[in-house]
Amino acid sequence: MSSTPPGTGTATATRPRPAVGVPHTRVEGPQKVTGQARFSAEIPFPELAHGWLVLSSVTRGRVTRVEDGPTLAMPGVLTVLHHGNAPRVEPRPGMLGPPDLTVALFQHDRVPSRGWPVALVVAETSEQAREAAETLVVRYEEEPHDTALHEEHPGAYVPEQGDPVARKGDLAAALAGSEVVVDELYSTPEQHHHPMEPHAATARWEDGRLELTDSNQGATWVAGDLATMFSLDPSAVRVRSEHVGGGFGSKGLRAHQVAAVMAATRLGRPVRVVLTRRQMFTLAGHRSPTVQRIRLGADPDGRLRALEHRGLNHTSHVYEFVEPSASVARILYDADAHHTDNRVVRLDVPSPTWMRAPGEAPGSFALECAMDELAERTGLDPIELRARNEPAVGPLSGLPFADRHLLDCFREGAARFGWDRRDPRPGTRREGRWLLGTGTAASSFPAGSAPSTAAITAEADGTFTVRIAAADIGTGGRTALTLVAADALEVPTDRVRVRIGDSDFGPAMIAGGSAGTRSWAWAVTAAARELRERLVPGTVPPPEGSTVRVDTTEAVKALPPKERYSYGAQFAEVAVDPGTGEIRVRRLLGVFAAGRIVNPLTARAQFVGGMTWGLSMALHEEAARDPHTGGTVGADLAGYHFAAHADVPPVETHWIERADPDDPIGIKGIGEIGIVGTAAAVANAVWHATGVRHRALPIRPDRVLTAATRRDDAGLG
Ligand code: MOS
Repeated sequence: MSSTPPGTGTATATRPRPAVGVPHTRVEGPQKVTGQARFSAEIPFPELAHGWLVLSSVTRGRVTRVEDGPTLAMPGVLTVLHHGNAPRVEPRPGMLGPPDLTVALFQHDRVPSRGWPVALVVAETSEQAREAAETLVVRYEEEPHDTALHEEHPGAYVPEQGDPVARKGDLAAALAGSEVVVDELYSTPEQHHHPMEPHAATARWEDGRLELTDSNQGATWVAGDLATMFSLDPSAVRVRSEHVGGGFGSKGLRAHQVAAVMAATRLGRPVRVVLTRRQMFTLAGHRSPTVQRIRLGADPDGRLRALEHRGLNHTSHVYEFVEPSASVARILYDADAHHTDNRVVRLDVPSPTWMRAPGEAPGSFALECAMDELAERTGLDPIELRARNEPAVGPLSGLPFADRHLLDCFREGAARFGWDRRDPRPGTRREGRWLLGTGTAASSFPAGSAPSTAAITAEADGTFTVRIAAADIGTGGRTALTLVAADALEVPTDRVRVRIGDSDFGPAMIAGGSAGTRSWAWAVTAAARELRERLVPGTVPPPEGSTVRVDTTEAVKALPPKERYSYGAQFAEVAVDPGTGEIRVRRLLGVFAAGRIVNPLTARAQFVGGMTWGLSMALHEEAARDPHTGGTVGADLAGYHFAAHADVPPVETHWIERADPDDPIGIKGIGEIGIVGTAAAVANAVWHATGVRHRALPIRPDRVLTAATRRDDAGLG
């Protein structure tokens, strides 16, 4: 198509080449590398005071006394907030379930977990606040605690939120009628997300409005929660979060923002509260440990008669967070009898939260390892086993799939990885001291959309300004929206300026659930379409510009009910040294069908980042909670192991570009699917290398060694 683009303000001869689908470096990249891009804690304010949180040193009990007298007398100290003197707040609404009391700070004397905020010391400088906070004496009455998750915990219950239970068919009968049965318990440990940029917020009052400078995954989300908690009109709260150094689910409303607002209100001047790495271990949320029972019953040809997936995770006494591990089974495979449930147990631990692919990441480890065990027992190739259990419609919902490309991903991945050359027998390939093996696993993740508001202004100089309360948490979201807007406006990308991270831009989806870019792009595209209709081709907009604002609520609601997912196939090759227990991942390859890819450059980074995290989950990550103290052992980035550069081989990612049939741009979302299934692919490869199944993550050297000994004992070595 070659015509004068309407509404571009100047008459260009041809429509520019599409920007979506072409690699594009980050539009804010130069600002970031030159230090001009400021992150939350770097933005200066006059009269700024600094708050430092004091966290409980007991795991359960109550605060009997806060001896703030000596602290108040220390240099620079302005105030000490605690349960005896802090303003009252309303509970934060729960996202799906009951209210979240995790951030209702200083409202009572109860201590529900170690690391619970018991006071905030505010001083003129950060150093003074820290020094004073460290000397603050808090007295407690301690009570016995329970922080240990196990499968038979008597406190486990089925929550009311979400869809905890989904069932069809008679499971017992289907299992009894199955010739091949897999019945195993899988576990994943407590894991933590630590974005490079720690959580930081500055609160201040300006002209009767609460202004929060923050680092978060959704400015309107945080603003709305603050308005509720402090009983403010939503229009009286403005939250800005321009640059965000990572989120992964941890950057919603957390303790430090609430503390900063309380202190700014009390003192009448701006107050900043920043979390330390150690504080993040209790205040930023974490991925709950899980215990998962899987029972599969199949005919000798691999067809599933029975599928049961039961998940259990811990949560705190102040918030019911469900890690829906079993839900991934509701989409991946069909079975005559299909039972899944997600249960929780309240322990004396900090509140868990979303962490990249909540549910799917641990759930796919259990399910995809169990499927590999079924492949072994039926003598089928793992990919063929999956092909034989492809559902025609949603196994539990009966709804049609919007589209389904799981087997396409496996076919493409198998060809690229060289899967057909694989000898299925375990423990047969050796290279010096190394045993070699390969493994595969499926992945899927919901492809959702949520209502968003976007405004676009045609400026008099022929450029366009897009305003949307999106968050770029390092994914490249701002750049993706620039490409989308440029195409929708039919102008080159350098004529588009995208402004994000400001709650005054109106409600928008958060950068979460892999649905940010999709939801925002929808709004931006709709606004662009309307603007182009409004502008007269070849004319110049008025000096004040011409603005169109669009809210996609009705459009998103009108989506027909379907099973909407992205898909992927993960492949891993590992080398295991049975003498030391060391595991090296030699190759990782993933193929994803995740809709239309907006920016191949940053999309690749999302897939590779997710897969790298999956490797880390398989082999390294584990927060050890000491049952005696109730605290995390080695709560820092030295004690908490994760994959470093030397642990990660070149990670290969490919995608099958299939536009989502119901999305205006065809986007699905790519932030989370990369981690789904990776740990299972690695674990399955470890089995293939050694002949030993590891059902507890991470697969540490000591576990490999113990397993090797057990194998020798059984005469298998
Ligand atoms: Mo993501 S765990 O939905 O921020």
